[in-house]
Amino acid sequence: MTHRRTIVAGNWKMNLDRAKARDLAAAVAARAAEAGTTELVLCPPAVYVETVAAALGGSSPVALGAQNMHDHSSGAFTGEVAPPMLLDLGCRYVILGHSERRTLFGETDAVVNAKTRAALAAGLTPIVCVGETLEEREGGRTAAVVTTQVQGSLAGLTPTDLEKIVVAYEPVWAIGTGKVATPLQAQEVHALIRGLLGGLASPAVAAKVRIQYGGSVKPDNAADLAVQPDIDGALVGGASLKADDFLGIAKAFGV
Ligand code: 13P
Repeated sequence: MTHRRTIVAGNWKMNLDRAKARDLAAAVAARAAEAGTTELVLCPPAVYVETVAAALGGSSPVALGAQNMHDHSSGAFTGEVAPPMLLDLGCRYVILGHSERRTLFGETDAVVNAKTRAALAAGLTPIVCVGETLEEREGGRTAAVVTTQVQGSLAGLTPTDLEKIVVAYEPVWAIGTGKVATPLQAQEVHALIRGLLGGLASPAVAAKVRIQYGGSVKPDNAADLAVQPDIDGALVGGASLKADDFLGIAKAFGV
Protein backbone atom coordinates (compact mmCIF):
# COMPACT_ATOMS: atom_id res chain seq x y z
CA MET A 1 0.00 0.00 0.00
CA THR A 2 1.27 3.37 -0.94
CA HIS A 3 1.18 6.38 1.36
CA ARG A 4 0.24 8.54 -1.62
CA ARG A 5 -3.49 9.27 -2.02
CA THR A 6 -4.59 7.88 -5.34
CA ILE A 7 -6.04 10.33 -7.84
CA VAL A 8 -8.26 9.55 -10.81
CA ALA A 9 -8.99 12.41 -13.20
CA GLY A 10 -11.44 12.51 -16.09
CA ASN A 11 -10.15 14.30 -19.16
CA TRP A 12 -13.36 14.93 -21.05
CA LYS A 13 -11.39 16.43 -23.97
CA MET A 14 -13.62 18.28 -26.51
CA ASN A 15 -16.77 16.25 -25.79
CA LEU A 16 -20.31 16.63 -24.41
CA ASP A 17 -22.61 19.63 -24.45
CA ARG A 18 -23.62 21.81 -21.52
CA ALA A 19 -26.56 19.66 -20.40
CA LYS A 20 -24.56 16.45 -20.67
CA ALA A 21 -21.62 18.00 -18.82
CA ARG A 22 -23.94 19.05 -16.00
CA ASP A 23 -25.60 15.63 -15.82
CA LEU A 24 -22.32 13.72 -15.83
CA ALA A 25 -20.85 15.95 -13.11
CA ALA A 26 -24.00 15.57 -11.01
CA ALA A 27 -23.91 11.78 -11.41
CA VAL A 28 -20.26 11.59 -10.37
CA ALA A 29 -20.86 13.92 -7.43
CA ALA A 30 -23.84 11.89 -6.20
CA ARG A 31 -21.81 8.67 -6.30
CA ALA A 32 -18.42 10.03 -5.23
CA ALA A 33 -18.37 7.76 -2.17
CA GLU A 34 -17.96 4.76 -4.51
CA ALA A 35 -14.42 5.99 -5.19
CA GLY A 36 -13.44 5.19 -1.59
CA THR A 37 -10.13 6.81 -0.74
CA THR A 38 -9.42 7.89 -4.32
CA GLU A 39 -9.44 11.61 -5.07
CA LEU A 40 -11.67 12.43 -8.03
CA VAL A 41 -11.04 15.24 -10.51
CA LEU A 42 -13.20 16.29 -13.45
CA CYS A 43 -11.61 18.22 -16.31
CA PRO A 44 -14.36 19.51 -18.63
CA PRO A 45 -13.87 21.77 -21.64
CA ALA A 46 -13.08 25.29 -20.39
CA VAL A 47 -16.45 26.70 -21.42
CA TYR A 48 -18.23 24.17 -19.17
CA VAL A 49 -16.03 24.55 -16.08
CA GLU A 50 -18.55 26.86 -14.45
CA THR A 51 -21.46 24.56 -15.29
CA VAL A 52 -19.61 21.62 -13.77
CA ALA A 53 -18.64 23.66 -10.71
CA ALA A 54 -22.31 24.45 -10.13
CA ALA A 55 -23.32 20.81 -10.60
CA LEU A 56 -20.70 19.68 -8.08
CA GLY A 57 -21.81 22.22 -5.50
CA GLY A 58 -19.73 24.27 -3.11
CA SER A 59 -18.23 21.64 -0.81
CA SER A 60 -17.97 18.71 -3.17
CA PRO A 61 -15.22 16.13 -2.60
CA VAL A 62 -14.90 16.01 -6.41
CA ALA A 63 -12.23 18.45 -7.57
CA LEU A 64 -12.37 20.50 -10.72
CA GLY A 65 -9.63 20.85 -13.31
CA ALA A 66 -8.98 22.36 -16.72
CA GLN A 67 -7.41 20.78 -19.79
CA ASN A 68 -5.04 23.58 -20.69
CA MET A 69 -4.20 27.23 -19.94
CA HIS A 70 -1.93 30.05 -21.07
CA ASP A 71 1.19 30.85 -19.09
CA HIS A 72 0.42 34.58 -18.73
CA SER A 73 -2.02 35.81 -16.12
CA SER A 74 -3.64 38.39 -18.43
CA GLY A 75 -3.03 40.29 -21.62
CA ALA A 76 -3.42 40.36 -25.38
CA PHE A 77 -3.70 36.62 -26.03
CA THR A 78 -6.89 36.29 -28.05
CA GLY A 79 -8.74 33.08 -27.39
CA GLU A 80 -6.61 31.99 -24.44
CA VAL A 81 -7.52 31.29 -20.81
CA ALA A 82 -5.36 32.55 -17.94
CA PRO A 83 -4.49 30.60 -14.78
CA PRO A 84 -6.24 33.05 -12.39
CA MET A 85 -9.42 32.71 -14.48
CA LEU A 86 -9.43 28.96 -13.87
CA LEU A 87 -8.82 29.50 -10.18
CA ASP A 88 -11.63 32.01 -10.13
CA LEU A 89 -14.05 29.35 -11.44
CA GLY A 90 -13.03 26.88 -8.77
CA CYS A 91 -10.39 24.83 -10.60
CA ARG A 92 -7.71 23.23 -8.45
CA TYR A 93 -6.01 21.23 -11.18
CA VAL A 94 -4.92 21.82 -14.76
CA ILE A 95 -3.73 19.22 -17.27
CA LEU A 96 -0.59 20.47 -19.04
CA GLY A 97 1.38 19.09 -21.95
CA HIS A 98 -1.14 16.45 -22.94
CA SER A 99 0.16 14.58 -26.00
CA GLU A 100 -2.68 16.02 -28.08
CA ARG A 101 -1.45 19.51 -27.21
CA ARG A 102 2.16 18.54 -27.85
CA THR A 103 1.47 16.97 -31.26
CA LEU A 104 -1.55 18.94 -32.57
CA PHE A 105 -0.77 22.34 -31.07
CA GLY A 106 3.02 22.33 -31.08
CA GLU A 107 3.61 22.48 -27.33
CA THR A 108 7.28 21.89 -26.58
CA ASP A 109 8.84 20.99 -23.24
CA ALA A 110 9.75 24.67 -22.87
CA VAL A 111 6.10 25.68 -23.30
CA VAL A 112 4.97 23.02 -20.86
CA ASN A 113 7.61 24.20 -18.41
CA ALA A 114 6.41 27.82 -18.63
CA LYS A 115 2.81 26.69 -18.10
CA THR A 116 3.77 24.44 -15.18
CA ARG A 117 5.52 27.32 -13.43
CA ALA A 118 2.57 29.62 -14.12
CA ALA A 119 0.08 27.09 -12.75
CA LEU A 120 2.06 26.68 -9.55
CA ALA A 121 2.46 30.45 -9.20
CA ALA A 122 -1.30 30.85 -9.52
CA GLY A 123 -2.02 28.16 -6.95
CA LEU A 124 -3.17 25.48 -9.38
CA THR A 125 -1.87 21.92 -9.28
CA PRO A 126 -0.50 20.94 -12.69
CA ILE A 127 -1.01 17.43 -14.03
CA VAL A 128 2.03 17.27 -16.31
CA CYS A 129 1.74 14.70 -19.10
CA VAL A 130 4.57 12.80 -20.73
CA GLY A 131 4.74 9.74 -22.94
CA GLU A 132 6.34 8.17 -25.98
CA THR A 133 4.89 7.42 -29.42
CA LEU A 134 4.70 3.90 -30.84
CA GLU A 135 7.62 4.62 -33.13
CA GLU A 136 9.71 5.79 -30.20
CA ARG A 137 8.82 2.71 -28.15
CA GLU A 138 9.55 0.33 -30.98
CA GLY A 139 12.84 2.12 -31.59
CA GLY A 140 13.84 1.49 -27.98
CA ARG A 141 13.72 5.19 -27.16
CA THR A 142 11.00 5.22 -24.46
CA ALA A 143 13.33 5.96 -21.54
CA ALA A 144 15.23 8.66 -23.46
CA VAL A 145 12.02 10.39 -24.62
CA VAL A 146 10.35 10.32 -21.22
CA THR A 147 13.56 11.51 -19.54
CA THR A 148 13.80 14.49 -21.89
CA GLN A 149 10.13 15.36 -21.38
CA VAL A 150 10.27 15.10 -17.58
CA GLN A 151 13.49 17.05 -17.25
CA GLY A 152 12.41 19.68 -19.79
CA SER A 153 8.86 20.12 -18.54
CA LEU A 154 9.91 20.32 -14.89
CA ALA A 155 13.18 22.23 -15.27
CA GLY A 156 13.94 24.73 -12.54
CA LEU A 157 11.09 23.77 -10.23
CA THR A 158 11.95 23.91 -6.55
CA PRO A 159 11.55 20.77 -4.42
CA THR A 160 8.55 22.44 -2.75
CA ASP A 161 6.90 22.91 -6.15
CA LEU A 162 7.81 19.43 -7.38
CA GLU A 163 6.20 17.93 -4.31
CA LYS A 164 2.87 19.49 -5.30
CA ILE A 165 2.62 18.40 -8.90
CA VAL A 166 1.00 15.34 -10.43
CA VAL A 167 2.70 13.60 -13.36
CA ALA A 168 0.71 11.59 -15.90
CA TYR A 169 2.47 8.94 -17.94
CA GLU A 170 0.42 8.54 -21.11
CA PRO A 171 2.02 6.43 -23.82
CA VAL A 172 0.70 8.02 -27.02
CA TRP A 173 0.08 4.61 -28.61
CA ALA A 174 -2.32 3.72 -25.78
CA ILE A 175 -4.46 6.87 -25.98
CA GLY A 176 -7.89 6.26 -27.46
CA THR A 177 -6.70 3.06 -29.12
CA GLY A 178 -7.97 0.43 -26.70
CA LYS A 179 -4.33 -0.72 -26.40
CA VAL A 180 -3.50 -0.31 -22.73
CA ALA A 181 0.12 -0.62 -21.63
CA THR A 182 0.68 -3.78 -19.65
CA PRO A 183 0.94 -3.14 -15.91
CA LEU A 184 4.65 -3.98 -16.06
CA GLN A 185 5.31 -1.69 -19.05
CA ALA A 186 3.59 1.13 -17.17
CA GLN A 187 5.28 0.38 -13.85
CA GLU A 188 8.69 0.40 -15.52
CA VAL A 189 8.19 3.93 -16.84
CA HIS A 190 6.57 5.13 -13.60
CA ALA A 191 9.62 3.93 -11.68
CA LEU A 192 11.85 5.72 -14.18
CA ILE A 193 9.85 8.94 -13.70
CA ARG A 194 10.06 8.66 -9.92
CA GLY A 195 13.81 8.21 -10.22
CA LEU A 196 14.03 11.33 -12.39
CA LEU A 197 12.01 13.30 -9.84
CA GLY A 198 14.44 12.07 -7.21
CA GLY A 199 17.27 13.51 -9.28
CA LEU A 200 15.48 16.84 -9.74
CA ALA A 201 14.68 17.15 -6.02
CA SER A 202 15.36 14.24 -3.67
CA PRO A 203 14.10 10.68 -3.21
CA ALA A 204 11.97 11.91 -0.30
CA VAL A 205 10.23 14.48 -2.52
CA ALA A 206 9.87 11.96 -5.36
CA ALA A 207 8.17 9.55 -2.96
CA LYS A 208 5.41 12.12 -2.41
CA VAL A 209 4.62 12.83 -6.08
CA ARG A 210 1.58 11.12 -7.52
CA ILE A 211 2.12 9.58 -10.94
CA GLN A 212 -0.97 8.68 -12.95
CA TYR A 213 -1.15 6.27 -15.85
CA GLY A 214 -3.28 7.24 -18.86
CA GLY A 215 -4.19 5.45 -22.06
CA SER A 216 -7.26 3.24 -22.56
CA VAL A 217 -7.87 2.78 -18.83
CA LYS A 218 -11.17 0.98 -18.27
CA PRO A 219 -12.85 -0.56 -15.23
CA ASP A 220 -11.68 -4.01 -16.27
CA ASN A 221 -7.97 -3.16 -16.59
CA ALA A 222 -7.69 -0.62 -13.75
CA ALA A 223 -7.16 -3.10 -10.90
CA ASP A 224 -4.04 -4.63 -12.48
CA LEU A 225 -2.57 -1.15 -12.95
CA ALA A 226 -3.56 -0.07 -9.44
CA VAL A 227 -1.51 -2.78 -7.70
CA GLN A 228 1.73 -1.53 -9.26
CA PRO A 229 3.82 0.25 -6.63
CA ASP A 230 4.45 3.47 -8.60
CA ILE A 231 1.03 3.86 -10.26
CA ASP A 232 -0.95 6.27 -8.12
CA GLY A 233 -4.06 6.75 -10.21
CA ALA A 234 -5.27 7.29 -13.73
CA LEU A 235 -5.89 10.05 -16.24
CA VAL A 236 -8.94 8.78 -18.06
CA GLY A 237 -10.24 9.89 -21.45
CA GLY A 238 -13.06 7.93 -23.10
CA ALA A 239 -14.13 6.01 -20.02
CA SER A 240 -14.51 9.23 -18.02
CA LEU A 241 -17.54 10.17 -20.15
CA LYS A 242 -19.62 7.52 -18.40
CA ALA A 243 -20.17 7.81 -14.64
CA ASP A 244 -20.25 4.02 -14.22
CA ASP A 245 -16.92 3.50 -15.95
CA PHE A 246 -15.21 6.48 -14.34
CA LEU A 247 -16.29 5.47 -10.85
CA GLY A 248 -15.42 1.84 -11.54
CA ILE A 249 -11.86 2.91 -12.35
CA ALA A 250 -11.69 5.18 -9.30
CA LYS A 251 -12.90 2.33 -7.09
CA ALA A 252 -10.17 0.03 -8.41
CA PHE A 253 -7.59 2.58 -7.23
CA GLY A 254 -9.22 3.19 -3.85
CA VAL A 255 -9.62 1.21 -0.69
P1 13P B 1 -8.30 7.36 -23.34
O1 13P B 1 -8.61 6.94 -21.93
O2 13P B 1 -9.52 7.66 -24.14
O3 13P B 1 -7.35 6.42 -24.00
O4 13P B 1 -7.52 8.77 -23.24
C1 13P B 1 -6.47 8.88 -22.39
C2 13P B 1 -6.10 10.31 -22.28
O5 13P B 1 -5.60 10.91 -23.21
C3 13P B 1 -6.39 11.00 -21.02
O6 13P B 1 -5.77 12.24 -20.95
